[in-house]
Amino acid sequence: MTEVQVSGLTKKYGAKAALHELDLTIASGQFVTLLGPSGCGKTTTLRCLAGLERPTSGRIAMGDRIVVDTARRTFVPADKRRVGMVFQSYALWPHLNVTDNVAYPLKVARIPGRERAQRVQEMLDAVGLSDLGKRPVTALSGGQQQRVALARALAARPGIIFYDEPLSNLDSKLRYQMGQQVRALHNRFETTSVYVTHDQEEAITLSDRIIVMNEGVIVQDGTPSTLYDRPNSAYVADFMGFQNILPGTVVGVRGKTAEVRVDDTSHVFSGITTGEASVGNRADIAFRAAHARLCPAGSTGTGKFRGTVERTTYLGSAVNLLVRSDGLPMRVRAETAELSADAVPAAGEEHTFAVNPDRAVVIVREGATPAADDYLTTMTDAVVAPR
Ligand SMILES: Nc1ncnc2c1ncn2[C@@H]1O[C@H](COP(=O)(O)OP(=O)(O)OP(=O)(O)O)[C@@H](O)[C@H]1O
Ligand SMILES: [Mg+2]
Repeated sequence: MTEVQVSGLTKKYGAKAALHELDLTIASGQFVTLLGPSGCGKTTTLRCLAGLERPTSGRIAMGDRIVVDTARRTFVPADKRRVGMVFQSYALWPHLNVTDNVAYPLKVARIPGRERAQRVQEMLDAVGLSDLGKRPVTALSGGQQQRVALARALAARPGIIFYDEPLSNLDSKLRYQMGQQVRALHNRFETTSVYVTHDQEEAITLSDRIIVMNEGVIVQDGTPSTLYDRPNSAYVADFMGFQNILPGTVVGVRGKTAEVRVDDTSHVFSGITTGEASVGNRADIAFRAAHARLCPAGSTGTGKFRGTVERTTYLGSAVNLLVRSDGLPMRVRAETAELSADAVPAAGEEHTFAVNPDRAVVIVREGATPAADDYLTTMTDAVVAPR
């Protein structure tokens, strides 16, 4: 297990910065995921940490070793950093069989023959490939090849392993199984893991901590549940799967709860604020389709809206609805387990829905904070009334 400390990490390609002054500490034994869209700098971060890329400026420490310090021209190359890497493309040596692929880093580390054979067998057992040691790696399925890559990365017992979208080439069921295996191996071999993906579900299920990046900077850093429940920007909310992100203005605040009137509509929704909120602030109210519920016709009040179902998508366990209300398109997910078969909303029907105020988030866009008196007088009971 190795602690990683990154400060001021910048990587420029020509004039363009792929990473900009990144600061980051990863505790030893942590499983951290870098999440973000294509081009945001995930691979560049990993490559700088692994020693495959020379940063333009900054400092990286691993355990008690400084591996990069551009001010002192320190640069420890990849093979001297005691790190493991797993790539999307597997990157196995095609001319070697399974055993020899896994044994290779142990040879490099000069582990003697007998111990080497034991360690290889232990790794093949750990990834469920005990019987395939003699198989050429070219004669394996994608999932099996990825398990060889995992075994190889772990064989030399590195203190830290970097994973760059290791499961992207696998089908969804295998991806889930392999993800679980990656996490189990992380726990069993007590490594520190830095994992890159652009799949938010994978990030949530595997990680202790998720770091969301955008254009070479960190935009949010927290536990999976923080990222899932309390995105701090519309960008992160969108990335974490909030299907409804509606621009508006804060019209009431009480403690951590705020009411937002959605632009150009009469809709007022209540949600938890992710920062300081004051009446008059521009803000987005964001909620997941699953956090808006069908409710009895005639229900009214903050967070309720009536709308026409424009489209339904049947998913089996749920039906996704596109609902138009006061001109606004909104996405709602109705769980079939909670509805009798004939109560499932159909296109063309009008229904009433309620947004769960404990699950919606109010993301303030601008900071100006008027005096408390200003906004407390504008409070309506509806904001704080228990529902
Ligand atoms: N060798 C290179 N030369 C020039 N630009 C590069 C190079 N490598 C990466 N970049 C640029 O740096 C930025 C970050 O790239 P990076 O590969 O880190 O993104 P990523 O987050 O891993 O994306 P993806 O999800 O597509 O893998 C991109 O704009 C990319 O075009
Ligand atoms: Mg990448």
